[in-house]
Amino acid sequence: MSTIIGAVGTTHVPSIGKAIAENKQNDPYWRPFFKGFDYVHHWLAVQKPDIVVVFYNDHGLNFFLDKLPTFAVGAAKEYRNEDEGWGIPVAHALAGDPDLSWHLINSLVADEFDVTMCQEMLVDHAVTIPIALMWPGEKSKPIKIVPVSINTVQHPLPSLKRCLNLGRSVGRAIERYGKELRVLIVGTGGLSHQLDGKRAGFINKHFDQLCMDKIAGDPESLIGYSIHDWVEQAGAQGVEFLNWMAMRGAMTGHVTEVHRNYHIPISNTAAATMVFENNGAAERKAA
Ligand code: DHB
Ligand code: FE
Repeated sequence: MSTIIGAVGTTHVPSIGKAIAENKQNDPYWRPFFKGFDYVHHWLAVQKPDIVVVFYNDHGLNFFLDKLPTFAVGAAKEYRNEDEGWGIPVAHALAGDPDLSWHLINSLVADEFDVTMCQEMLVDHAVTIPIALMWPGEKSKPIKIVPVSINTVQHPLPSLKRCLNLGRSVGRAIERYGKELRVLIVGTGGLSHQLDGKRAGFINKHFDQLCMDKIAGDPESLIGYSIHDWVEQAGAQGVEFLNWMAMRGAMTGHVTEVHRNYHIPISNTAAATMVFENNGAAERKAA
């Protein structure tokens, strides 16, 4: 049986890739953001996950507006990145785990989440930037991934509740998995931001604070917001918080926040980095 050790929530702003390539981690603009990952590195070194299940949104590299699944799960042996036009280096391919992917896909469909299954899948900055932040400087990353893509791009989007429940289904499936893996959940994107239109540059610190305060202990209190409400409060791209809701849902035990860094702005985004531990699930199962 696999163990869900906890989760990391983080932004995925592409210009972070440029800052890494140019070694700007200690520049005044970047330092408050990158410093927030010192704790993450220490925590990962102690926790030693084998695999990451990453909830993210594709921005047009793998899916485009012509065909855009609400939920898609990778089932590939490896996941390549390609040039997305941001002027950042193309990341090295990440290893997959088709066996775990198919287990998750089977469980999700049995739970009535009719996901798109992808035996070939490119992953964009919403996967590669968080991985580069968590495991800096290593060409061959020490982990495998299962990418789970959530549509945050073309309306209608799934609700916060639906994404929380998607995560719960993934969490239950991981716990039932036959192999003993230490699984880390990652949710990427956000927090508040809007990249275009009249409100380009919009950030809502007060609302972000509420989201960060509620996500560990009371995620249900956020599901009353409609997607329309969320766009109003968090900006058109602030809906990437759907990935964080799925991440939270996948933590099956008692969830505690062990780290938080919040910094405004990174590019156009209010950047949050949070670490959560997931305790007590094994004891509950044994009881
Ligand atoms: C930015 C933020 C995003 O979430 C993204 O996908 C691309 C760019 C930004 O703030 O620049
Ligand atoms: Fe994004």
